[in-house]
Amino acid sequence: MRIVLRIGGSVVASPVNTSLISKYAEIVRALKEQGNEVVVVVGGGALAREFIDIAKKLGLDEQAQDELAISVSRLYAQLFLKKLGAIGCKQVAVTLDDVIEYLNEGKIVVMGGLKPGITTDTVAALAAEHVKADLLVKGTDQEGVYNKDPRKHADAVKLDRLSFDDLASVFAEHKHKAGIHQIIDPEAIKALKRGRMRLVVVNGFKPENILAAVKGENIGTVIS
Ligand code: UTP
Repeated sequence: MRIVLRIGGSVVASPVNTSLISKYAEIVRALKEQGNEVVVVVGGGALAREFIDIAKKLGLDEQAQDELAISVSRLYAQLFLKKLGAIGCKQVAVTLDDVIEYLNEGKIVVMGGLKPGITTDTVAALAAEHVKADLLVKGTDQEGVYNKDPRKHADAVKLDRLSFDDLASVFAEHKHKAGIHQIIDPEAIKALKRGRMRLVVVNGFKPENILAAVKGENIGTVIS
């Protein structure tokens, strides 16, 4: 299977969790040993947001802010790649063509951000579309997708299965809340819909969830 794994910066990098990073390296290695091709997309987490703030205070525009955040995500990608060793691609992928090239070399592909104005969710969805992935798994800081923001509502209910259209309506209801941490952004949903891909959102603090999702077990939220 071709799998894109999106690891939230909020999971491994806010603060940096080295034992979790090591576990992810083992999981990715196991997936490759099982015969899968894997693309890993890592976010910039708290440090990226810190750089965005610094850039803002210096009066830099949004493009510059994003470029700095992308650099931070690529730094984490480089770190993960080094931890993977020889099974990883020769350098952090910075274009979608790099992703194909490095997959064809039989390597695990690791990347951070791609271009200003998007999130790493969208990067993962675009990469998945580009390589015709079978599955995109997002490791996030919640158990899956809920009917409302679980941090604010104690009665929020986790949804086990959703269609992409359902997902769009879950977000539409919450759109008015500025700054809401969306579990997967709308641009990413569009790319996934175009590529007719399956997305599983799981709790990324338990990396074994990734293996369960690949096996097709009932875990997190499955969106298709
Ligand atoms: P994310 O919000 O996607 O990273 O990118 P994250 O830390 O993994 O997010 P969580 O874990 O889901 O919370 C951080 C910021 O970096 C810029 C955007 O400003 C984005 O909000 N970015 C990232 C880009 O501009 N382009 C990219 O390709 C990636």
